[in-house]
Amino acid sequence: MIKKMNMKRTLVKEALGRESPMESILVKGWVRTRRDSKTFSFVEINDGSCLKNIQIVVDASLPAYAEIGKVTTGAAVSVSGELAASQGKGQKWEIQASNIEVYGTSDETYPLQKKGHSLEYLREIAHLRPRSNLFGCVFRVRNRLAFAVHQFFQQKDFIYVHTPLITANDCEGAGELFRVSSLDLKNLPRQEENGEIDFSKDFFARPTYLTVSGQLEAEIFATAFSNVYTFGPTFRAENSHTSRHASEFWMIEPEMAFCDLEGNMDLAEEIVKYLVGDILDNCQDDLSLFSRFVDKGLLDRLQFVRERPFKRVPYTEAMEILQKSGKKFEYPAEYGANLQSEHERFLSEDHFRCPVTVYDFPKEIKPFYMRSNDDGKTVGAMDLLVPKIGEIVGGSQREERYDVLAENLKRHGLDEKEYWWYLELRQYGTVEHSGFGLGFERMLMFVTGIANIRDVIPFARTPGNAEF
Ligand code: 4AD
Ligand code: MG
Repeated sequence: MIKKMNMKRTLVKEALGRESPMESILVKGWVRTRRDSKTFSFVEINDGSCLKNIQIVVDASLPAYAEIGKVTTGAAVSVSGELAASQGKGQKWEIQASNIEVYGTSDETYPLQKKGHSLEYLREIAHLRPRSNLFGCVFRVRNRLAFAVHQFFQQKDFIYVHTPLITANDCEGAGELFRVSSLDLKNLPRQEENGEIDFSKDFFARPTYLTVSGQLEAEIFATAFSNVYTFGPTFRAENSHTSRHASEFWMIEPEMAFCDLEGNMDLAEEIVKYLVGDILDNCQDDLSLFSRFVDKGLLDRLQFVRERPFKRVPYTEAMEILQKSGKKFEYPAEYGANLQSEHERFLSEDHFRCPVTVYDFPKEIKPFYMRSNDDGKTVGAMDLLVPKIGEIVGGSQREERYDVLAENLKRHGLDEKEYWWYLELRQYGTVEHSGFGLGFERMLMFVTGIANIRDVIPFARTPGNAEF
């Protein structure tokens, strides 16, 4: 018996990027289209390595042609042959097939036939949408963006720290927690005194939740390693039905000892510029699809963000700008109010026309850990806002003074005993330190122009949705 020659598979990206032809090549992928003439069939194959397909030419007189009926849109195939200069328009190389093997057939019910589908429909087939052009681009860019995040911090000698996903604290104090419990919902243990649920009988012998932020634990590591970052999933049970909120999203959280609010703002601007630049340099094909079909102004905007300085403005001044704008907002812009998405977009899109960092917010609308300013009214908070999206980064200088922190815990109705380790960081070798959270999906929306967060997450979790 003759053994099949064991040829190495070439990815389409590599084949299309070649400088010279190849006498023999093996590619594998999924059929995008097939077109037949009398003497040839032309098959477009995509393997996810790049946006482009590779064209396969099958001569009707070859034995390989016998299989051609099974080579339909969606089928998984393997093709061997010769990589030759293409006579056709639009591609440098094509494969003149000598052999085709069909692994898995498809049929006319395959939902991704050539015609365009709405993003809403594609969300319902999240198991197939990665095979579409648009989502191929989105998830390749997502991959590159994650790589670039690590590259950015590793080049700066930040230490990557894995903070826990299951935690007992509510870092943001917003009460948007998913409970983690192994108690039997049908038979809950009760405390004798008051009939309330007895969480000392639960798995961790206390109430526990999915984390909303790795910040508090990152602070621990910053007070040992100076500069650290987390990059992982976070969870929020917030019932917001917007295009910018997901219940499960990834956050990048640097934390730096010996760093004040200004150094923090510097780093936030630097990473946003770096990530934009990295995607511009390394994802040109994918970006070109977004700029054709998703957001015409995308490339100009990204170039602008990469090159031009950002603006900074104190919260008080931002509020004055909003008030003087004469614009009617749904939520009035009054001192003491949170910045709403409409305010954020007005500031970055219409007023400054560039990314802008708002800082020094009223202490009443911010969490307990932020550092009190000398004015007694504001805290060293910062939000970086970008056009089209609004808040992309939220951060602060942290309260490093033991007494002030203890006072803040009290003011927020939090129990000092629960935060004993957080307070001890202020007892032993305390130091000014700062950090922020960059929403990974928001950043991805910004670099792709994709308007809905559901379309930059492989399998989005939002209120009422956990399919796949
Ligand atoms: O402003 P946030 O809530 O800040 C924190 O959690 C801090 N503890 C971070 C820190 O200082 N280490 O969230 C940070 C960023 C937001 O600016 C936004 O980009 C993103 O996380 N974000 C969300 N992204 C998607 N869906 C949601 N529901 C999000 N909530 C926040
Ligand atoms: Mg925020």
